[in-house]
Amino acid sequence: MPELVRFGVSMGPELLAQFDWLIRKKGYTSRSEALRDLVRSSLVEEEAQEEAAMVAGTLTLVYDHHTSGLSDLLNDLQHDHHQSIVSTLHVHLDAHYCLEVLVLHGSAADVRRIADRLIAVKGVRHGKLTLTSTGKGL
Ligand code: NI
Repeated sequence: MPELVRFGVSMGPELLAQFDWLIRKKGYTSRSEALRDLVRSSLVEEEAQEEAAMVAGTLTLVYDHHTSGLSDLLNDLQHDHHQSIVSTLHVHLDAHYCLEVLVLHGSAADVRRIADRLIAVKGVRHGKLTLTSTGKGL
């Protein structure tokens, strides 16, 4: 772990009380670790706005596999983008619904484009992309 630099933070008492409430709720044991995570979160969010930035992401899809042609279409689209789709997890939720989690790795622009394409497929009931960092630079 690199050497830590201490610095002072000025904050109004109300905001500080809310910060303390938040970090207790989330289970942090120190303000410093909570603050470090907030900074990292902002950096990841900012980085993901850059189209060329390499990101990792998870896309969660929920769909009814009885919808005609849907499973095949989703499968075809995933094969079209096999370079960016690292892994998939498929769960049969019940007799109708499937939940699929795709792990994506690539440029932010590519990952977003692939996710948008899959989410927009007719019959996909819900889709959610979560972008995160590849871990470098954090
Ligand atoms: Ni299924």
